Amino acid sequence: MSAHTKPTPASAKQVRVHHLAAAKERGEKITMLTAYDAVTGTLLDAAGVDMLLVGDSIGNVMHGHTTTLPVTVDDLIPPARAVAAAAKRALVVVDLPFGSYEAGPVQALATGVRMMKETGVAAVKLEGGTRVAAQIRALTDAGIPVVAHLGFTPQSEHALGGHRVQGRGDEAAEVLADDALAVQEAGAVAVVLEMVPVDVAARITEVLRIPTIGIGAGAQCDGQVLVWTDMAGMTDWTPRFAKRYAELGQALQGAAEEYITDVKKGTFPDEAHSFLE
Ligand code: KIV
Repeated sequence: MSAHTKPTPASAKQVRVHHLAAAKERGEKITMLTAYDAVTGTLLDAAGVDMLLVGDSIGNVMHGHTTTLPVTVDDLIPPARAVAAAAKRALVVVDLPFGSYEAGPVQALATGVRMMKETGVAAVKLEGGTRVAAQIRALTDAGIPVVAHLGFTPQSEHALGGHRVQGRGDEAAEVLADDALAVQEAGAVAVVLEMVPVDVAARITEVLRIPTIGIGAGAQCDGQVLVWTDMAGMTDWTPRFAKRYAELGQALQGAAEEYITDVKKGTFPDEAHSFLE
């Protein structure tokens, strides 16, 4: 841990799955950010975020893909292991990537067991509602906590016709609400709602016992999740639902430019950064 990283207080209680429903009951908002490595995992955990998601957004954000579809279980295991090792307090969740659970409960269980054995995370996340309820049940029955993901589900972006708000209109809102109830009944400990109209997300939040964690789903969700690079302003990409809390991309580029100038000019390394004897 570097000198400027605020250490997580020793008294800080590790966030466990039962704390999520308890937070909902108390009306305390749950915070979640993505993380893909130990450095950011350490910083975001020290900041006090409740949940860290090793999302398959690693495909777009870190691996240069245009969708999450190419991401594999093998791609996610090393970053999940790094974030789980870094987090002292946050509950760490890893995505089950496209193709690793859709075939049925047996496939989902095999993937979930591998994730738990090889990474040290506390929960897995998968996309879909009624159609994956059997998978959620199998994982839950095996002792693997599951976070569900409804609304815009990036793994189905071709079927959904691109990045579009989901649950608009009475019929679509009802299907979404039924899916939310189905994942709750199957044992999910929380559900991410992505790109859902505010009133639809609010109604689902009111009906469910388990917390809703919104991303582009309004302020009435029980919690919020953002991709850390969007939150920190690392790139030019800012989806409508993301707020830039810093301009770290510019700061990083500026630091690299200064370093390059110093080396070219011969002003780095100076005596203070050299071994004189
Ligand atoms: O993979 C991811 O980062 C996600 C969040 C957008 C919720 O699923």
